[in-house]
Amino acid sequence: MTETHAPPAAEQENPLLEGLRRRRTPEPCALTIFGASGDLTQRKLFPALYALAVRHLLPEHFAVVGVARTQMTTEAFVERMRDAVQEHGRDEFHQETWEELAAGVRYVAMEFDDDAGWEGLAAALNELDEERGTDGNRIHYLAVPPKAFEEIVRQVGKRRKTSGWTRLICEKPFGHDLASARALNATIARYFAEEEVFRIDHYLGKETVQNMLVLRFANGIFEPIWNRQFVDHVQITVGESLGVEGRAGFYESAGAIRDIVQNHLLQLVALTAMEPPIAFDPESVRNEKVKVLRSLHTPGPKHIVRGQYGPGDIEGAEVPGYREEEGVTPDSETETYVAGKLYVDNWRWADTPFYFRTGKRLPRRETTIAIQFKRAPKPPFDAAEEGMRPNVLLLHIQPDEGVSLAIGAKVPGQGLAIRTVHMDFLYGGAFRTGLPEAYERLILDCMLGDATLFMRADEVEEQWALVDSIIATWQRDRPAFPNYPSGSWGPPAADELLHRDGRSWRRH
Ligand SMILES: NC(=O)c1ccc[n+]([C@@H]2O[C@H](COP(=O)([O-])OP(=O)(O)OC[C@H]3O[C@@H](n4cnc5c(N)ncnc54)[C@H](OP(=O)(O)O)[C@@H]3O)[C@@H](O)[C@H]2O)c1
Repeated sequence: MTETHAPPAAEQENPLLEGLRRRRTPEPCALTIFGASGDLTQRKLFPALYALAVRHLLPEHFAVVGVARTQMTTEAFVERMRDAVQEHGRDEFHQETWEELAAGVRYVAMEFDDDAGWEGLAAALNELDEERGTDGNRIHYLAVPPKAFEEIVRQVGKRRKTSGWTRLICEKPFGHDLASARALNATIARYFAEEEVFRIDHYLGKETVQNMLVLRFANGIFEPIWNRQFVDHVQITVGESLGVEGRAGFYESAGAIRDIVQNHLLQLVALTAMEPPIAFDPESVRNEKVKVLRSLHTPGPKHIVRGQYGPGDIEGAEVPGYREEEGVTPDSETETYVAGKLYVDNWRWADTPFYFRTGKRLPRRETTIAIQFKRAPKPPFDAAEEGMRPNVLLLHIQPDEGVSLAIGAKVPGQGLAIRTVHMDFLYGGAFRTGLPEAYERLILDCMLGDATLFMRADEVEEQWALVDSIIATWQRDRPAFPNYPSGSWGPPAADELLHRDGRSWRRH
């Protein structure tokens, strides 16, 4: 693409961004989005492509083919995507930039089991190779319901071109349990090498999640204290204030454990606990994460709590209970909340609990990782002082992205009163720029062939193995649902989980 617009002004003026080299430009390629009439394409994928176009990060020779069952022309699809970019994009809309991107967009309507449809798609892609110079390089993005994955993988696999590279992006969920994830991995492995496969967990595309690695491995002061000797415990919270929001069809068979714990939450545990990788490359980083996942113990029944929200109040508005939501059965036993205690059984972390909780209809949307350090051993101050609480390093993944260190400080004036104060680094404030959406980073990384921020087959399988073993312990008893009102921080049993250990969840 030719350059027409400069990156947004805030990014140009930012002194902390000065001197940064632009990233490599990806090689020419065509991106095929399966599921192009769906929600993800409209809300995330096209706005991400547009944001990349604004920053001149797309390949010079680039094309997008949208594929779905809905019948529409390329013109109608382009119009839809323009509306989507205007509604969901993070940048001001520039007609000229849009037109350049749109010139390489096509739409193909097809059923995935229809050979004629596949031939039409191949013809469209070959034509784009000629017109747009995409060189036979292909990315296939599976933004479809999981049941459609295998068929697309098979069809794409057997029609692979011999010239140019081919990559596959798989949306989550990747399987429903260990057996289905293994089966899908096996089908993929028949046609693709592992380095051609990009399994998405969009949390890994978030700046603050990547910053966890920078914080730990680019700063000398954290590594010596990042272990069982200094850390008392870790608390990971993935809270949502929203309810099931019309996704009951999917959620009823997934629940919080498959929707959040299996992927996002276990990835956050792995990134917090992993050893320093020998390099920031896909295999080194993922090797270390897999080691953590392998060393996790299945929590016993007393160390895991599940919940389901009842009616309640979110920010002053009354909301229904999960069982009253549209599409949910009135006696549903699907959990909308899970809390638990995990142990990473290795030398660095032995006996250090990693508490986690995730739930819907909690008081607010919040994803945080709190590293709580041990108390000062023998302080010469009154231990009852409010500010004598243990130090906490708090990583805000979303919203208010940043890092905050809670320390005790003397209150100015006579006497020696101590209060907890916070040393804060706020992303938006320091870098004075809007954060890129996770999908921008992930799509670009795939174009560059960099799978560091994507999940490897063995990682996904380890995650499912743990989740399956937790779910197996749930088959024996009937939960007494609902057990927490909307707008609360979860069932009382989640508080007891920590109280039994003489700890409590971080105050909000
Ligand atoms: N939406 C999100 O924010 C989000 C977030 C994380 C992960 N995901 C994952 O992304 C994937 C897509 O989600 P979505 O929310 O976009 O779903 P969606 O709105 O239901 O869209 C599904 C898309 O797949 C197409 N499709 C489904 N079955 C098909 C078939 N047999 N043949 C051809 N096309 C078919 C649909 O096309 P037609 O309607 O035209 O038939 C539609 O374009 C899912 O795996 C989901 O779990 C979504």
